[in-house]
Amino acid sequence: MTKTLTILGIESSCDDTAAAVVRQVDGVPKVLSSIVFGQTELHADFGGVVPEIAARAHVEKLDICVEQALTKANVTLSDLDGVAVTAGPGLIGGVVSGVMLAKGICAATGLPLIGVNHLAGHALTPRLTDQVPFPFLMLLVSGGHCQFLLVKNHDDFNRIGGTIDDAPGEAFDKTARILGLAQPGGPNVQKAAENGDPKRFKLPRPLLNQEGCDMSFSGLKTAMIRARDAVIVENGGLTVQDQADLCAGFQSSVADILTEKSRRALEQYFALNPETRTFAVAGGVAANTQIRAQLLDLCAKLDTNFTAPPLALCTDNAAMIAYAGLARFEAGEQDDLTLSARPRWPLDQTAAPMLGSGKKGAKA
Ligand code: KG4
Ligand code: ZN
Repeated sequence: MTKTLTILGIESSCDDTAAAVVRQVDGVPKVLSSIVFGQTELHADFGGVVPEIAARAHVEKLDICVEQALTKANVTLSDLDGVAVTAGPGLIGGVVSGVMLAKGICAATGLPLIGVNHLAGHALTPRLTDQVPFPFLMLLVSGGHCQFLLVKNHDDFNRIGGTIDDAPGEAFDKTARILGLAQPGGPNVQKAAENGDPKRFKLPRPLLNQEGCDMSFSGLKTAMIRARDAVIVENGGLTVQDQADLCAGFQSSVADILTEKSRRALEQYFALNPETRTFAVAGGVAANTQIRAQLLDLCAKLDTNFTAPPLALCTDNAAMIAYAGLARFEAGEQDDLTLSARPRWPLDQTAAPMLGSGKKGAKA
């Protein structure tokens, strides 16, 4: 007999209001719809996400977003088996908005409520898109996250390293700002770097030779400011070529740090003796062509499959929340109406807390 599970997912932990429907038929999941309302323009004047503005925008858009997700998936509430919602970590006003909506739907319909850790959503995406077998290694790199996770089961994650200060996406965005390039910084720094000489400026690779998989990007930002200022003092300003060389140097430094730390993380992963070796990357920074090329090359050398979910499922979305909720529900887990919104919620409760994880708010 065919076993079908259909889950509505709701995500509102940062600056994307999202809803999605995922249906799994005989163990194979499929995204029926995934709607994302971004808030970039609302925060554009402030140089970062403003929590109060984000929360208000979520409240305005969440119900419309859910309606659109159901319509696009061609399902009604009565076709659902449960409602999954991001219960943290994230900006508390946003998380509360999503959790309250999910509770309202569940209270009205009697549907099971499933609270999901946002990071579990990201970490399980390779199973949604490619049915990657456990255990696999995940590198999550975005504007708010940077960590290596050994993903052993839907509820068993080991964080074996991460940034001790800024997330790489944040560093790309700051670099763009320092050099007068437009936001979001990542794609613009990458574009400028195409015409640059990565060797012209000697930029640091913090923690590169230190043991373990922890990373640091804030010193690199300071070094960029110094290098820029030195050029300005010498030449009276920055040429397009100076910008390109600085971007190329910065991007190479980030790529080298991520590659070397990935090599170390893979060593720890191989110690688990996985049947098929898989290294998955997710998050906006995983779109960077140089970083991708270096990680692909590393995996080829180490006989490891490299996978990156499509960008729309790499960045914040609700399909990953629906799927992570589906995995919990399948394992017999669910919550009740006392489910709390948690601003901080480390995926790996046993790992030492991280010092910081970026201005975008995910304290995990
Ligand atoms: O995952 P994401 O969309 O949002 C969150 O951070 O939650 O990641 C956005 C980040 C931004 O910092 C952006 O500058 C960076 O990903 N990014 C890139 C590239 N495309 C986006 N960084 C480097 N190279 C890129 N091509
Ligand atoms: Zn995220």
